Amino acid sequence: MPRCSAPVLVVLLWAAGSALCAADVGDFAPCLQFFYKSWPPKGLTGTPICQRYFNQYRFASLYSRARRSPWFSGYMYAAPTGKRPSASWKFEPQLAYPGADGNMIPFPPGPVDQNVVESQAVELDYINSSYTRGHLNPSLHHHSREDRYATFTLTNVVPQKTGSNDGPWEVLEQTVNKTLDAYCLGEAYVVTGIIPYQSDEHWLKNHRVAVPEYMWSAYCCPKYNNSIPEELKHTFPTYAAVGRNDQNSTEEIVPVDTTAKKQFRGYDVRQMSLETLEMYLTERFSTVVSVFYERCSG
Ligand SMILES: *[C@@H]1O[C@H](CO)[C@@H](O)[C@H](O)[C@H]1NC(C)=O
Ligand SMILES: *[C@@H]1O[C@H](CO)[C@@H](O)[C@H](O)[C@H]1NC(C)=O
Ligand SMILES: *[C@@H]1O[C@H](CO)[C@@H](O)[C@H](O)[C@H]1NC(C)=O
Ligand SMILES: *[C@@H]1O[C@H](CO)[C@@H](O)[C@H](O)[C@H]1NC(C)=O
Repeated sequence: MPRCSAPVLVVLLWAAGSALCAADVGDFAPCLQFFYKSWPPKGLTGTPICQRYFNQYRFASLYSRARRSPWFSGYMYAAPTGKRPSASWKFEPQLAYPGADGNMIPFPPGPVDQNVVESQAVELDYINSSYTRGHLNPSLHHHSREDRYATFTLTNVVPQKTGSNDGPWEVLEQTVNKTLDAYCLGEAYVVTGIIPYQSDEHWLKNHRVAVPEYMWSAYCCPKYNNSIPEELKHTFPTYAAVGRNDQNSTEEIVPVDTTAKKQFRGYDVRQMSLETLEMYLTERFSTVVSVFYERCSG
């Protein structure tokens, strides 16, 4: 479909043309296919981004301009092949310039345009910050090279402690990879997001990018293999988890395993039902949060 790059169309159908351009940011309509029953999570507010790379939609994120980081990313799982690609970090030009092409673009080697810097996180925010770039939608959950490259956009990452990113959270991503690959027979929809601090918001140096207290993830696989081993029965059709991103957090949501290796201690991930996850999200966001349409039972 011709988009913002077709000037004649834009002039002739100015209203329709600008609606098309605006659709990459501010509206999930062009990328609803990444959500179960085309139904994005309810209860959270932000700027929808249809994440586009090489002229194809790859996944969707709800972005917070104030936090310069996402509330969640939604995507469809596909079994990966090969190694993790080396990262080329990208930004979203349409957050800085409403009329811009909606394809994500690799950061230039030199200085970054000031409107881009204002509208989103840039690499300098993370460099020397004591936080890693934690993917919400991980490259591990995708098959095609382009889908994997597309996860390396800073609107899909949050500041995540190494102890979580290289520890229990990575184990969760690998467990979900193995479980969905082995027993999910149709589409698997995944939504991964964050929970902010209740008070005393944490920021990366420079006070530009907000740090989450927890990360959460849930999947919906409506069509699965009925002969799943007994110990995995509770993981279908839905499964959810919350991970700590701060060793000092209290233990009401996720208890700490004090016998864990020191470098991972305090970054535990707790598996839970989708219902329990939604209860915590509803409590922490002070509004009813629903991740999947009819809790994936529809
Ligand atoms: C990061 O820290 C190192 C070591 O202190 C320093 O050499 C480097 O210039 C810093 N990089 C940036 C981008 O601040
Ligand atoms: C992810 O799943 C694929 C398909 O089963 C498997 O080949 C691969 O080893 C898994 N990767 C990790 C890191 O778990
Ligand atoms: C379902 O799981 C069983 C046991 O792991 C396996 O033998 C069978 O091939 C699977 N069926 C499908 C359709 O994948
Ligand atoms: C956790 O608490 C310790 C000791 O009070 C402090 O040094 C550290 O910076 C805190 N960590 C975070 C992530 O706030």
